[in-house]
Amino acid sequence: MDKVRLGVIGCGNMSRIHLATVGGKSEHTAPELLPFARQTEVYGLADVNLAHAEAHRQAYGGEYITDDPERIFTDPNIDAVLISTWHDTHAPYSLRALECGKHVLIEKPMAMTEQECDDIVAAVERTGLKYMVAFRCRFARGTKDIKREFPQPDNIIAHARFGSIWPEGIWPQDPIKGGGQILSQGCHIVDLMFHLAGSEPESVYAVGGVYHHSRPDVIDTINASVRFQNGSVGAFLGGDGGTGGILASHPLPCGCPFFVMVVDKGRSALAIDHGHDARFESGVPEAEWKPPYAERVYSQELGENPASGLSDILPTFARCILKDEEVPATAVDGARTTRFILKCFESARTGRVIRF
Ligand SMILES: NC(=O)c1ccc[n+]([C@@H]2O[C@H](COP(=O)([O-])OP(=O)(O)OC[C@H]3O[C@@H](n4cnc5c(N)ncnc54)[C@H](O)[C@@H]3O)[C@@H](O)[C@H]2O)c1
Repeated sequence: MDKVRLGVIGCGNMSRIHLATVGGKSEHTAPELLPFARQTEVYGLADVNLAHAEAHRQAYGGEYITDDPERIFTDPNIDAVLISTWHDTHAPYSLRALECGKHVLIEKPMAMTEQECDDIVAAVERTGLKYMVAFRCRFARGTKDIKREFPQPDNIIAHARFGSIWPEGIWPQDPIKGGGQILSQGCHIVDLMFHLAGSEPESVYAVGGVYHHSRPDVIDTINASVRFQNGSVGAFLGGDGGTGGILASHPLPCGCPFFVMVVDKGRSALAIDHGHDARFESGVPEAEWKPPYAERVYSQELGENPASGLSDILPTFARCILKDEEVPATAVDGARTTRFILKCFESARTGRVIRF
């Protein structure tokens, strides 16, 4: 196989960001991934709204548009599918694509229920196809620097409060189509927490509830304590909340209220803004550990692109297909994240510690 012919299902905002890399056209794609971006082409595009599909076809190419995803799944000219739809279709479309022999790049969250997670993990194992979750934080420079310096930190504090309160009417807030802000956005930071922890969860205890919305069935606030199997401990604080620009006081423009702090024996690091930015501090002698950047310097001050990594996701997926490499964010990673968030909801509802 010398190129990846892509079927796109869901032609909205996020697939636009991925498709901007096709053909090696994005200046933000890492140089070592450009050959794989050049070997990727759009073949077919599906959307329930054909105008969206046509707009994508005009911008990124493609042989046809359709409002029937089944045409993409059964098209023998298509090797792989990018699924970037609303969340209730992620699992059924993933399973159908795998059944039809297509590799899958799925936007987050991978699935909405534990059963869906189990079904996808089993289907990936059964088919041996590449299945990658677009967990963007893993691709960002700050994340990579922290992961290298702290392979298994003692403590992890993950924060994913949204800067404002989500409007009631948007699809991600719908309990069926989206699942709410914690599943929709918190999943980025939950995945980053586990990625940096380097361990599976053992138990979680969460308090939370509905503090910002009218629907009683979509929990919008979670404060969770986590124990990992390797003995380290963590916290996940997520939800709507109107934190606004309260974290924007550092000298850089990102100010995104999403961060993960890791602490390990007198050393600490902060991944900010989906891990696009990072900084390090040390309370140990320099002979024992030298932070990768000088203290109080952020990686973005070293010239890092504020959206680092986003334009590497689709080219990385293509590389994994073309070179038969393991994907960096697997179905097991996607399942862990959805399952953890659902266990947080269960703990908050029942008041019990939940074991994995
Ligand atoms: N990684 C990130 O930072 C990030 C950011 C935003 C969104 N996302 C994710 O990307 C995905 C898409 O979000 P978006 O912001 O692009 O939404 P969007 O509404 O802009 O686009 C979704 C598209 O899917 C289409 N669609 C909906 N249901 C469909 C169906 N059943 N079959 C075919 N097409 C269908 C819609 O018409 C729309 O064009 C979601 O999973 C979302 O969580 C990720």
